[in-house]
Amino acid sequence: MTSFHDKVVAITGGASGIGLATAKILASRGATVSLADINQGGLDSAVRALSAVGGGNHSGTVVDVGDSKAVTDWIQRTVSDHGKLDGAVNLAGMVRVQRPLKDETDEAWARTMHINADGVFYCLRAELNVMKDGGSIVSASSVASHLGMAGLGAYCASKAAVNLLTKTAAREHPNLRVNAISPGATATPMVAAMEAEMGHSQPTVAACINRQADPSEIAQAIVFLLSPEASFITGSVMDVDGGYLA
Ligand SMILES: NC(=O)c1ccc[n+]([C@@H]2O[C@H](COP(=O)([O-])OP(=O)(O)OC[C@H]3O[C@@H](n4cnc5c(N)ncnc54)[C@H](O)[C@@H]3O)[C@@H](O)[C@H]2O)c1
Repeated sequence: MTSFHDKVVAITGGASGIGLATAKILASRGATVSLADINQGGLDSAVRALSAVGGGNHSGTVVDVGDSKAVTDWIQRTVSDHGKLDGAVNLAGMVRVQRPLKDETDEAWARTMHINADGVFYCLRAELNVMKDGGSIVSASSVASHLGMAGLGAYCASKAAVNLLTKTAAREHPNLRVNAISPGATATPMVAAMEAEMGHSQPTVAACINRQADPSEIAQAIVFLLSPEASFITGSVMDVDGGYLA
């Protein structure tokens, strides 16, 4: 099991779900974690939870990933506070009310693309500017980046953008490793909110493993991609979907 002792890792969307699960594993292996999220209360309890788990001097900063300057300031402050950035995990994301494309609104389209695609671009740019050789970045894609999903056109398009931002960054930075994960349905507050809106649970029958993932199962894959054990993996979009795309 790789130790992250003395490593500094920045995580967006770290107050909840997959981001919080990733932060807990990293802290338990000795990393110092710099969390960013729009949810101040969630950040406060996440930092308390991380400090109980272990690791270094964890911090939580309110950052909207749709705010380019706020993202850059947070990454630069992470480096000035901790001296370096070894890893970054770009998980902040959103899904809007499900609506077919013919009825999609300009506002919902723009907001989804802004947070999920522009937001990952702002994070990647800030991270690529400060990371030294050997650094590793993982961003949140989705099974929805690989196929059409009725009612989720904006979400699908925004996650497809993450895939090619990831591959482009990997080509431009052979001294780093830049990857994405493509989770299937995972039991987080995001999915719970979607299920409440739909009035039924997110179907998983298309997967080989017919259940939702626990957030820790996605987090383990992210931690692997951050670690030296993934030393020859870059530019990849790793399926962590219980065989949904098999
Ligand atoms: N849960 C799933 O089934 C699933 C599947 C595929 C991909 N994903 C992706 O994984 C990522 C994490 O999702 P999750 O399921 O853990 O969701 P979650 O809702 O539990 O966590 C997302 C976090 O992002 C934060 N956030 C939202 N908008 C933000 C913004 N503008 N700036 C900063 N923080 C913001 C939220 O406050 C929340 O803490 C997302 O990008 C999501 O699209 C999730």
